[in-house]
Formats: sequence, C-alpha cells, structure tokens
Amino acid sequence: MAVPTEVTWLRDPHTAAKHDLLKKYLEAWAPILLSRHEMATYAEGFSGPGVYKAGEPGSPVIAHGVFAGALHRHPKRLRMFLMEKDARRVEELRRQMVRAQERQTGYVNQRLSVHIDEGEFHPALLQRLRTSGALGQPLFVLLDSYGGPDIPYSLLKDLAAHDRVEVMVTFVPGFLTRFAEKHEGRRQQGDIAFGGQEWQAVFKKPSTEKFAFLRDQYRDCLHRAGFTHTLHFEMVDEGGRLLYLIFGTKNDKGLEKMKDAMWNVDPNHGVRYRDPKDPDQQQLDLEWDPDTAALRRILHDHVVDSPEGVTIAELQRFTLLETVYRPAQVIRSIRQLRDAKAVDTDTARVSGKTLVLPPRANPSSSPPAEQDGLW
Ligand SMILES: C[S@@+](CC[C@H](N)C(=O)[O-])C[C@H]1O[C@@H](n2cnc3c(N)ncnc32)[C@H](O)[C@@H]1O
Repeated sequence: MAVPTEVTWLRDPHTAAKHDLLKKYLEAWAPILLSRHEMATYAEGFSGPGVYKAGEPGSPVIAHGVFAGALHRHPKRLRMFLMEKDARRVEELRRQMVRAQERQTGYVNQRLSVHIDEGEFHPALLQRLRTSGALGQPLFVLLDSYGGPDIPYSLLKDLAAHDRVEVMVTFVPGFLTRFAEKHEGRRQQGDIAFGGQEWQAVFKKPSTEKFAFLRDQYRDCLHRAGFTHTLHFEMVDEGGRLLYLIFGTKNDKGLEKMKDAMWNVDPNHGVRYRDPKDPDQQQLDLEWDPDTAALRRILHDHVVDSPEGVTIAELQRFTLLETVYRPAQVIRSIRQLRDAKAVDTDTARVSGKTLVLPPRANPSSSPPAEQDGLW
C-alpha cells in the first residue's frame, strides 16, 4: 500500500487482521490488569484518524470499545494517550473519539479518559507517559507507523525499563532491503531503529533470506531493549508487501494471551504464520485447530535432545516461550508422536508427572516419514 495522503483511506485486509488481533488481545489484557490494578494505560504513537474511508473503526476506537466493556465488569480506571502528526487526522480522531464516548454511559466516561496530542510521536509520547506516571503502571503501547523503521531503539529501551510495559510495533523490512544499502541516510535510519549496525549483514544475505533475517534482528532488538518475550505476526498486504507486527513483553501471561489472540485471528483475513524454529519453515494458516505438524517436529527434536526426558509441563513452557504455538496444543501433539512411536512416555519415574523420552526402540534423531497425515 502506498502511504496515504488523504485524511482517511480504505482499510485493506491486513489492517483488518491487525485490528482483529489487537481487539482480541486487549479483550484479554484489560480484564486481567483491571482485576489486579487500580489503573492501566493504553498509548498509541501513530493513532491515525480513528476511522477508515468506508466507516470501519480505527485502532483507538476499537480499543476504546474494548475498555468500555471491561470497565463495566471491573470498576477501575483506564487512560488513553493518543499521538498523531497530521493535523487533519487529529481533527477527525477527536471527532471519532467524542462519538465513541457518546456511545458509552457517563459511568464509563468518568473512568476512561482520552488524551489526544498533535505532533511528532517521539519524544512527546514518552514524556507524556512519564509525566502522567503511566510508566510505573500496566501500559500497552501500540507503535503502528507505516512500517518505517521509524521507532528509535532508545524509546524501546526506555519503555522496557519498566516491568509492566508491553509494546506492539509495525515493522516493514522492504524499505531497508531496497534502499538502505546505497543510501547512507537510510542506513542511519536503520541503525537508530536497531540500536546498532548488525542488521546491515542483511546486504550479504541471499534475497530469499533477507526479510526473515531482518525480522529476527528486530525481535532481537526488542530482547536487547529488555522485553524478555517477543512474538511476531506476519502479514502480506494486497500489493504483496510483507509486514510484521512485533510484540514485546516481560510477562508470561501476556505472551500466552497474545498467542491465543494470534491463533484466533479470523483466517478469512488470509494471514499466515511461520515458526522460526521449524527447519521446514512451513507456512501455517491461522485457525483455531491449526496444522500442528511443525509443532510435532519441534517437540520431537527437543525431546531427542533431552535423553533424561522432559515433563509435559516443561514442554508446555518451552512451547509458550520458544515457538509460535500454544501450550494447550502440546498434549495432543505428544499423543500423536507417541502413537507414531517417535517418542516414549513414562508415568512411573516421576510421581504424578508424565515424562516424555526419546524413543527406546528407535533412538535415532529423525522423526518418522510422513504417514497418515501425521507429519
Ligand atoms: C498506519 S497509520 C495508523 C493507523 C491506526 N493505528 C489504525 O490502525 O487505525 C499511521 C499514522 O501515523 C501518522 N504518523 C506518521 N508519522 C508520524 C510521526 N512521526 N508521529 C506521529 N504520527 C505519525 C500518520 O499520519 C498516520 O495517520
């Protein structure tokens, strides 16, 4: 998609997928945090006008609707800080947020405040969060630019210095692979975003590996900034342009809920997923009961690398932290591996726990060939 110049623009399928993901995640995030804390904050650096050309809501309006619902069940407080650079879009955003507030009762509006600022997102958003005290509280920051990269690494680091902060960043690798090698200014833009120059190794990668390399570099950059867990969500827009949403958190629960949200995104949006740990780089359709062949390959390799055996709980945690899959998908996958004699299970050695072991009869490290749709 070319960068729109009008106030509003047509919502494309990848934006619909992004909104579906955001809504599903916030529906889990808000009640969990409001049940434990008096106040939580949601912030956007690139808010947009709050509406698309055919009338669909933008991300701030979607978030507002989710928070209003959560506040009915948990009578606490939520704040929204929204930044937007384009004055015309700010005007439209103000109109849309007033409409969103008019759809709610006074009770919700007293508990859900909306602050809109016009201007360059950085460093204004950080200052706003700092002076309002939001950095010490649960905070979700959406940095949904046209993909830049235009988020300075220093901002990610400043955010990650606080425990309950989570970020979601839009990252489009095509700009760097196309323009940065020959233009010093654009290389510098990359250095500021990645907080170093390691990403420039992309120039020497074969073209088929460039995007995945930059994606992994960007996830690594969130790790270095201090977000202990990251996930990415891959989308292709109607012009064939690849873009990633990259999520960073320090919280196991946040990771689990984002994964649930990812697997629940409406498959009609055509988004796909690849697990970086899968040697076959199989593309996965995002469905509630997805193809778990890649998870079985990953679990099999992990068990074979653990001759003393691994408990189901350990495999579930490994799955949560190291793969795109959900812990709830582990037991079924292990059953299928056991039925295919690719692993053994033992319930006697550790009381009350099932230990998963490399197969005794066939200790080789390769999973069986594809049979009966199992692999
Ligand atoms: C991808 S759109 C945001 C869409 C919105 N998050 C949604 O999903 O409805 C990016 C927005 O960021 C704004 N923008 C671009 N550069 C900016 C900057 N440096 N600071 C603040 N806003 C910026 C653009 O005007 C545009 O409205």
